[in-house]
Amino acid sequence: MDRIRIRGGAPLHGLIPISGAKNAALPLMIASLLTEDTLELGNVPRLADISSLLRIMSNFGVDHSIAGRRPGQSTETGQTIRLTARNVIDTTAPYELVSTMRASFWVIAPLVARFGHAKVSMPGGCAIGTRPVDLLIMALAKLGAAIEIEAGYVVATAPKGLRGAEIDFPKVTVGGTHVALMAATLAQGTTVIRNAAREPEVVDLAECLIKMGAKIQGAGSSEIVVEGVTSLHGASHDVMPDRIETGTYAMAVAMTGGDLVLDNTRADYLQAALDVLGQAGAEVTSTHGGIRIRRNGNGLMPVDVTTDPFPGFPTDLQAQFMALMTRANGTSRIRETIFENRFMHVQELARLGAQIRLDGDSAYVDGVPGLKGAPVMATDLRASVSLVIAGLVADGETTINRVYHLDRGFEALEAKLARCGALIERVRG
Ligand code: EPZ
Repeated sequence: MDRIRIRGGAPLHGLIPISGAKNAALPLMIASLLTEDTLELGNVPRLADISSLLRIMSNFGVDHSIAGRRPGQSTETGQTIRLTARNVIDTTAPYELVSTMRASFWVIAPLVARFGHAKVSMPGGCAIGTRPVDLLIMALAKLGAAIEIEAGYVVATAPKGLRGAEIDFPKVTVGGTHVALMAATLAQGTTVIRNAAREPEVVDLAECLIKMGAKIQGAGSSEIVVEGVTSLHGASHDVMPDRIETGTYAMAVAMTGGDLVLDNTRADYLQAALDVLGQAGAEVTSTHGGIRIRRNGNGLMPVDVTTDPFPGFPTDLQAQFMALMTRANGTSRIRETIFENRFMHVQELARLGAQIRLDGDSAYVDGVPGLKGAPVMATDLRASVSLVIAGLVADGETTINRVYHLDRGFEALEAKLARCGALIERVRG
């Protein structure tokens, strides 16, 4: 298995191009199941999760092609993927495939909406908590799908098609909103989704669905109204920039000191996190196509944060921010309210010398003057990258094992950081 080796202490200077967002690309690819025409997606990141979803879609009979590289494109410029779900031969997603990536459960929505039948394995638990799918099932049931649970599978049927409905989510769920949105596009009549997730990835999905002929209003607010149509058609859409990748590199330069331009991204996608970085002592400014982050000389101030649905501080940046706070001049409290078990990075950061106490949903981080390199590993991708951030300032060598977690969500991580001065390399093994 590959490892990442880092020698800490080098500041970051330069420009990092931000990739297309994994968490937008996945639902967009799944949306191709809603039409028999071709959906062309640009700026798709080269990530293991994208390849896994392509495998799952191929299993249904979806054809795909990946456009060859054009002059001036590097491996870090996103790829263009065309997906055509004309001859869907199977509406079953088996456990072996769904268990490798939870988001693949979302195929249940376009399959039942377009074909009246879907059988999708329950995803099961994962490293960041129990992560149930009850609200996704509730949304489909509201839209008139008959739901049965059989031997670990959710079987959804609607032989006469789905019907518009009022869906009130008792808590904000990104996946639930994606599922309700996709299913409602082909339902008969009007659907109102209340307490909808406002994440930019929901807006990106809605914009693509609108290009495909869907009638959607209010995406980005907590009430989305969908007027069902009888069919959708092909379209071409570019995946939005990855706000979590953006925030991760912003925290990396806040940690090491230096001056980084994050290109091809948008500050308004992660304003809460950028505000917190400003309070911690980084200087954040907007550039023509992105964001510039600097920290020169001054130390890091402790800042308390609580994770929240968008526009709050994202849970997917919690581990990275905790890594940053290990070096602050004082104690910070980091409260995780989205996932109950998303603190696995704490023990690994402790191996590097961090002082962190856990109490319920909160981590209290006492900043230390220095971290020391060590071999570490993590069980999810955001936790893994928090160890990279810590390793960038730790004395000596840090080796991060289980690199496949990073490959699921960070395109060309070591190349992007190395070009900006980090002493980081992949060790093949
Ligand atoms: C999405 O997961 C993201 N995944 C996650 O990113 C992200 O952490 C999460 O949203 C929150 O922002 C993708 O987009 C592929 P939720 P999702 O439904 O949709 C509870 C990463 O690192 N809930 O918004 O699965 C749930 O347990 C990943 O890239 C129910 O109770 O998250 C959680 O407490 C990890 N019942 C809360 O809602 C349900 O049926 C929010 O989860 C569904 C969710």
